[in-house]
Amino acid sequence: MQRRTLLRGSAALITAPALLRHALAADAPRFALGIASGQPRADGMVLWTMLTGAGLPERTTVHWEVAQDEAFKRIVARGDETAEIAWSHSVHAEPAGLEPGRWYWYRFSALGQQSMVGRTRTAPATDAPASLNFVITSCQRWDVGHYAAWNHVAAEQLDVVMFVGDYIYEYASGAKSIRPVEGGLVRTLAEYRARYATHKSDPALQAAHAAAPWLMVWDDHEVGNDYANLQGQELEPDFKAQRAAAYRAYWEHMPFPKATRPVDADMRIVHRLDWGRLARIHLVDDRQYRDVQVCPKPGRGGSNTVSLKSCPEFTDARRTLLGADQERWLADGWDASRPWNLLVQQTLMARFSWTDPANGGGTYWTDGWDGYPAARNRLLAPIAERKLPGVVVLGGDVHSNYVADLKADYDNAAAPVIATEFCGTSITSLSLPQPRIDAARAFNPHIRYGRGDQRGYMRFSLDAKQLQMQVRVVDNALDPASGITTAARFVVDPLKPGAVAT
Ligand SMILES: [Fe+2]
Repeated sequence: MQRRTLLRGSAALITAPALLRHALAADAPRFALGIASGQPRADGMVLWTMLTGAGLPERTTVHWEVAQDEAFKRIVARGDETAEIAWSHSVHAEPAGLEPGRWYWYRFSALGQQSMVGRTRTAPATDAPASLNFVITSCQRWDVGHYAAWNHVAAEQLDVVMFVGDYIYEYASGAKSIRPVEGGLVRTLAEYRARYATHKSDPALQAAHAAAPWLMVWDDHEVGNDYANLQGQELEPDFKAQRAAAYRAYWEHMPFPKATRPVDADMRIVHRLDWGRLARIHLVDDRQYRDVQVCPKPGRGGSNTVSLKSCPEFTDARRTLLGADQERWLADGWDASRPWNLLVQQTLMARFSWTDPANGGGTYWTDGWDGYPAARNRLLAPIAERKLPGVVVLGGDVHSNYVADLKADYDNAAAPVIATEFCGTSITSLSLPQPRIDAARAFNPHIRYGRGDQRGYMRFSLDAKQLQMQVRVVDNALDPASGITTAARFVVDPLKPGAVAT
C-alpha cells in the first residue's frame, strides 16, 4: 500500500520534486531482488521474480523467456505475466511443454529493463534413469553472519537446492549484530515484505537461486518463533491475521506455483515429485497443521525442554505434527519401485534426549519430532512394515549437522534401523556450544555425527547404487568471502539403511 500511495501522490501533484522523483524512478533497478526457479517437473518449472523500486504502475506486464542456451539463441518458451501491486509485483511464470531432464536458461524483462539470467532444469522423465546432485540447508539469519555458503552452493553444479526453512527471521537485531536488520519484531504484511527484501538483496543468495531450481519448505521463523498451527508463542490474540500476512509475503517472494497462492491464513506447500526412476521426493509441512506443543512454559505457547516423567502428555497417541490428512498423504505416497524416497521436512527426526533415558525416560525439546513421538512412530511404521528401501529423511532447524539412524525403538540398541537421517546445519544461524552436544551424544548412540559449530550445507550425490554426502563447512561465517572445506563424508546403500562414514 505504501507504493500505491506514493504513486498516487506523485501523479496527482505535478510539481518539480514529483517530476524529479519520476525521472529517478525510471532508472531504479526493477529486478533488484534477483530471480529464482522452483518445483521442477519433467515438462517445466516455476520461474520467479518481483519488480522493485519506486513509481511502479499498479499493474504491469512482465515478459519471460526460456532458452536452451545461455546466449538465448534458441528460445523455446516465452510468455507474459501481470505483476500487480496487491501481490508486491511478484511474477510466478509456469512454462510447460519443455523437454525432460535438461538444462534451460531464463530471464525476465519489464519497464525497459532486463533481469539477470538464471539457470534451471526440468526433472528427468519419470521412467528415465537418473542421478541427482543436491544440497540441503536452512536457517539464514541475516544479522549473525554472511552468506558465503551461498556462493559455494552456486558453484557446486547442482540439479536442485533444497531449503528446509527459516528463510527469514522475524526478530529485531540485537546490539551485537554484524549487519542489523531494519525495524523491530516483524508482525505485519509490510514488515514481512521488508524483511524478505533485506534477505533477498544479498548477491550470494541471488547467485544460489540463479544456479539451480529450488525445492522449499518453510519452518517457524517465516511467521514467528515456535508457532504451532494457529497459535503463536506469545498466544497473540490476532495470530491468524499474522500468519495470513506471513504466508502471503512468503508466496510473493518464492518460486511456488500460482495454484499455491495463499487464501487467508492457508497456503499449501506440501509437494511430491519423481526424479526419473531414481527417487521420489516428498516435501511436507510440520507447522501449519500440527497440534500445539506439550507442556509449555506457564502462560505461553511454543517450545520447552522437559522430562518425560514430568509431562505425560508427550505420549498421547492422538497428537500429530503433520496433521491427519498429511500423515495419510505421506503413508499412501511412499514408492517401493524406486531405489530412494527422500523426505524433505523441517527438523531433527531421530530421538535426542538431553538426559539419560534409562533414568526416567529422558528429557526432550517439545517443538521437534521428540514432542510428537507417536506421530513419529506412525510415520516410520509403514516404512518398516513394507520394507521400503532407501528412505532418507532430510531436515534442518537445529543449526547443527546430525547424521542419525531412525528406529522404532531407541531404547533397544539392537532394534533395526528403518531409515537414514541427515539433518543439515544452518547458513548462518547459531547453535548450542559443542560441549553440550558432545555430552548429550552419550545418551543418543543412534546419532552418528553431531556438530553445532559448523555453518554451511550438506552436499549429496545420488545414483541408483549409492548416496554420497559431504558435510560442507565454511571457514568463517562472519566473512562474506569465506572459503569452504569438507568436514566429513558418509555413504548409504539403498538396501541397507544407516549412514556409513568414509
Ligand atoms: Fe532456524
